Amino acid sequence: MDWGMKNRMSRIINPKTGRAVMLAFDHGYFLGPTHRLEEPRKTIEPLLPYADTIMLTRGVLRTSVDPESATNVVLRVSGGSSIVGADLSDEGITTSFKEAIKLNVAGVGMSVFVGSKHESQTLLNLAELVNQGEDYGIPVLGITAVGKELEKRDARYLSLCCRICAELGTHIVKTYYCDEFEKVTTSCPAPIVIAGGPKLETEMDVLEMTYNAIQQGAVGVDMGRNIWQNDHPVAVIRAIRSIVHENNNPKQAHDVFLTIKDDAESTKAANA
Ligand code: 5RP
Repeated sequence: MDWGMKNRMSRIINPKTGRAVMLAFDHGYFLGPTHRLEEPRKTIEPLLPYADTIMLTRGVLRTSVDPESATNVVLRVSGGSSIVGADLSDEGITTSFKEAIKLNVAGVGMSVFVGSKHESQTLLNLAELVNQGEDYGIPVLGITAVGKELEKRDARYLSLCCRICAELGTHIVKTYYCDEFEKVTTSCPAPIVIAGGPKLETEMDVLEMTYNAIQQGAVGVDMGRNIWQNDHPVAVIRAIRSIVHENNNPKQAHDVFLTIKDDAESTKAANA
């Protein structure tokens, strides 16, 4: 691996722990103003210190993230469909490598829709992105998207998707956690991070999912809604971080969550 590629990979996956906390807020690229992400800057700014990387589009990066922040960026470079359109899988590449380099990214990411009408288009786009990523020393994150068909998220389907991404040369794969997740990680030679999916009922559910994913071979998370749709997003991301980078178990991480939440509430009350 060339120096630039290695350097960028180490901005995404911390070489000290071998793990990654990625904060995803690229949802607007097909969902528009998602709940609690209506004003991206307001939602995201307090979370930046606790994310190794943020995952977002160029538009939100330029308008809503301070360029002087120390945050590393994984840029979403696919799009072209919307939640109200005919087919979410009909995506193309939206952003050039020239622009990604101007934005000083640590990596770029795009979705593939395996088994969909546009399977081939998205897989060939991923392969081309990897070709260019290799030329420029920029890692590519392949995202195994399911569109509206959330029920697709089982080990058989996700193993297929992740393995295809790895075979095409993807440097990191992002997928969903599922039952028998170990089958997904063991059959994918590229490192895997998990998305959180729609908001779960409790913080403990999020922490257990994170813990189980790590125990079963994930290198970290690239999570969105389960962090920033929570009433205490800083407490959640710090609790997740304690699992990913400090090997906390869910109970220890939940204690981290409660301590930070209670401190924040006391400070708020004192300042009221
Ligand atoms: C959308 C994405 C999102 O970034 C991904 O789903 C992570 O967010 P969440 O944890 O909210 O699922 O790739 O296609």
